Amino acid sequence: MLAALAAQAGADDTPRYFESGAGTDVATFVTENCVACHAAEPLGREPGPSADNWAQNGPPLYYAGDKYRQEWLRDWLQAPERIRPAGHYPPAHIQTTPDGDVIDEASLVTHPALDAELAEEVAGFLMTLTPYAERLAEEDYEPGSVSLRMGQMDFRRFKGCVACHEDVQGEGGKSGPELHSAWDRLQPEFIVSFVRSPVHWNPDTMMPVLEMNDAAIHKLVDYLKTIAEE
Ligand code: HEC
Ligand code: HEC
Repeated sequence: MLAALAAQAGADDTPRYFESGAGTDVATFVTENCVACHAAEPLGREPGPSADNWAQNGPPLYYAGDKYRQEWLRDWLQAPERIRPAGHYPPAHIQTTPDGDVIDEASLVTHPALDAELAEEVAGFLMTLTPYAERLAEEDYEPGSVSLRMGQMDFRRFKGCVACHEDVQGEGGKSGPELHSAWDRLQPEFIVSFVRSPVHWNPDTMMPVLEMNDAAIHKLVDYLKTIAEE
């Protein structure tokens, strides 16, 4: 089922392109064109990272306004770049070969793109989805600075984030979203809250809980800021 879905989504190389002016309101547009692959509301079922639960093709969008930065959404929707090197559900896109695991690029989703006006509207709409605003309000993260070298050592060696995440394009684990663009993509308070308790945000998450105090998490966020500003 999953493989079939993935094959279907990847079979067509021409990305779908949506233009503004179709006459439908933005909420209807999202329901008709995005919800097939993105959860638009909390899922009413047992959570857990099982293949069935991940059969949805992309990350949940029902708390998009608590997660993304609006300018990033607007730009990315016009020119989507891959965030998860092995797709949203890596087991569906990785083939085991005698030379090791290989990502089946052809099976990855070619993301639809929107024209500038529509991207602006959809980004604006997604930012209104803020069911967990109070979680962000509870965070007291203040951007600080960390040297590139210390931050990288922490991210790679001490905290082991690099096993699943790239902090430099092409360098790092392929099972999680790349984090070299995380500072531009995500609200800092979301990053702190998510790292502390991933399952709070996404009941199906495959991100483990890594026992760390807030100061340690804040330092990692400062590192993500540092690499974005490099
Ligand atoms: C065929 C399935 C599919 C459809 C249809 C689709 N998406 Fe996606 N979407 C994905 C996948 C898969 C990803 C993860 C991409 C990646 O990691 O590179 C994604 C990622 C995203 C992201 C980035 C989020 C993140 O954290 O990775 C946004 C925003 C998004 N989609 C919005 C939309 C909107 C808005 C629509 C409707 C116009 C839409 N998508 C339609 C599959 C889809
Ligand atoms: C065992 C693999 C693994 C390790 C180790 C790991 N992560 Fe993750 N992480 C993931 C996966 C898989 C996701 C995607 C989960 C989801 O969408 O719910 C994720 C998601 C994230 C996100 C959200 C990104 C987004 O765009 O949605 C952040 C931020 C993050 N991880 C930070 C970290 C940090 C910082 C560390 C080190 C302290 C770390 N992770 C260690 C697997 C891992």
